[in-house]
This record gives sequence, structure tokens and C-alpha cells, in this order.
Amino acid sequence: MSMSNGHGNGYDADITASIVSRFDARPEQLIQILHGVVERFGYVPEAAIRQLAEALNLSRADVHGVVSYYHDFLTGKPGRHRVKICQAEACQAMGSHELTAHATGSLGMALHETKDDITLEPVYCLGNCACSPAVMIGDRVYGRVTAERFDELIGGLEGND
Ligand code: FES
Repeated sequence: MSMSNGHGNGYDADITASIVSRFDARPEQLIQILHGVVERFGYVPEAAIRQLAEALNLSRADVHGVVSYYHDFLTGKPGRHRVKICQAEACQAMGSHELTAHATGSLGMALHETKDDITLEPVYCLGNCACSPAVMIGDRVYGRVTAERFDELIGGLEGND
């Protein structure tokens, strides 16, 4: 299949086509294929969703459904800073929902969105349950994060001070 990419944002349809063919264009391999796309582009662009639906003979809604079910698949280009707030049980018990509400309010964006180079994401257990609620920024995990501490961490991000 040939689709010209024509996108200025680094998306390349030929690369996606080669990932699809590595999995013999088998629709049951969709998750693995999506992982391949994320590995290559850092997220799942809308153009890839369209292309995968066509190549795997699925509807676009099917592909979208899988992408949004798995919280690791971002559909927009991530910001330089990825901020993940744990939503799993132990953190929930220690107020991670309230912390998330604070974060979305103070950053002015919803989960899965990107603004000012910050991408806010949910995550399901960071292995830091003893120090809930946990937040991961880049590859560092922070424990017992209060609303004030969250604001400090965000304020300390490069390019955000
Ligand atoms: S439940 Fe949040 S770190 Fe384990």
C-alpha cells in the first residue's frame, strides 16, 4: 500500500505500513502494532489510526476504541514533560482523584491532554503504593504528593518557571 505522508510532524505512513507487515496485517495483533507505532513516533497520530483501520480491515471506531482503552497510547504528540498521576487503588484511597482534580484545574487541561509542553496522564500503579498518592514526572516517581507539592514540582519543570 502506498500513502504519501505529507505531514510535517514526522509521521511516516511507510513506516507504519512496515510495522503492519511485520505482524502480517493481522487484526488480532492490533495492540502489538500500536506499540510499534508508539515506539516509533511516541504516540498514535490520527493518520495512523486511519491507516491501521484500512490495513487491518477494521473500522476507525474499533482502532480508536483500543487506543483509548489502553491508557498508554497517546493520540497527540506528547509534551517534553510527561506528568502521570497514579489512579490505582492505593493511591485512590489516599486522594489521587482529588489530586487529579487539582492538577487538571491548575494546569487548565484534562487527562491525556498536552499544554505548554506538559502532558498529563493517568497511570495505574507506579510501585510506590506505600507512599501514595504517587506521581511520575519524566522517569522520577514522587510519593505523598499533596496539591502544594504538585504545584511545586510543576513550577520546577524546565521551561515552566
Ligand atoms: S497504587 Fe499508586 S503507586 Fe501503587
